[in-house]
Amino acid sequence: MLAFIWAEDSHGLIGQNGTLPWHLPDDMHYFKKTTMGNTIISGSRTFRSYNKPLPGRENIVISSQSDFPAGVHVVPSIDRLCELVAENPTKEYIVTGGANLFSQLLTRVDRLYRTKIEGTFVGDTYMPPIDYSQFALVKSIPGIVDEKNKYPHTFEVYERRQFHS
Ligand SMILES: NC(=O)c1ccc[n+]([C@@H]2O[C@H](COP(=O)([O-])OP(=O)(O)OC[C@H]3O[C@@H](n4cnc5c(N)ncnc54)[C@H](OP(=O)(O)O)[C@@H]3O)[C@@H](O)[C@H]2O)c1
Repeated sequence: MLAFIWAEDSHGLIGQNGTLPWHLPDDMHYFKKTTMGNTIISGSRTFRSYNKPLPGRENIVISSQSDFPAGVHVVPSIDRLCELVAENPTKEYIVTGGANLFSQLLTRVDRLYRTKIEGTFVGDTYMPPIDYSQFALVKSIPGIVDEKNKYPHTFEVYERRQFHS
């Protein structure tokens, strides 16, 4: 199954000049906890923002290029990625972005890990619109606000609704 994980501001902003528009360690901790031990899938631009494969996780990068460090599994197309996911139906593949990759997988995603950050930031990359009527909110947990985590934020989990005819 496919999941997305991302953080967005009040206007759906997710990126600024190849990196994140905010500094929010509580969300980085949540990202690590949620993805650890799992397989993560990143667009090449998002992967380059990590600098290296993220430890403790299987790192898949979607790219037409092949110049990635050892430890990265490069998948050259969305079709090949979808085959891989279909071959392992019980495994959770977590897509870590960015917007380009999310938009190509919107119709296929089963679970959403969304961090909603209250605020308006400056940036250039937005989450593609999601039809939330297709999803049920199953978890909503407020994050820590303190001197290191200045912006109120909520960790939400959505599951795709199963419609029966
Ligand atoms: N707030 C968050 O939670 C969050 C999460 C993730 C990312 N971000 C931010 O979002 C921004 C990056 O997002 P982005 O949309 O610009 O880029 P992206 O989705 O990370 O990467 C796009 C690149 O991936 C490769 N790719 C995508 N689809 C492909 C396909 N079907 N076949 C082959 N290759 C494919 C292409 O690169 P090649 O040229 O290598 O083929 C493409 O240029 C950054 O600012 C990042 O920090 C934010």
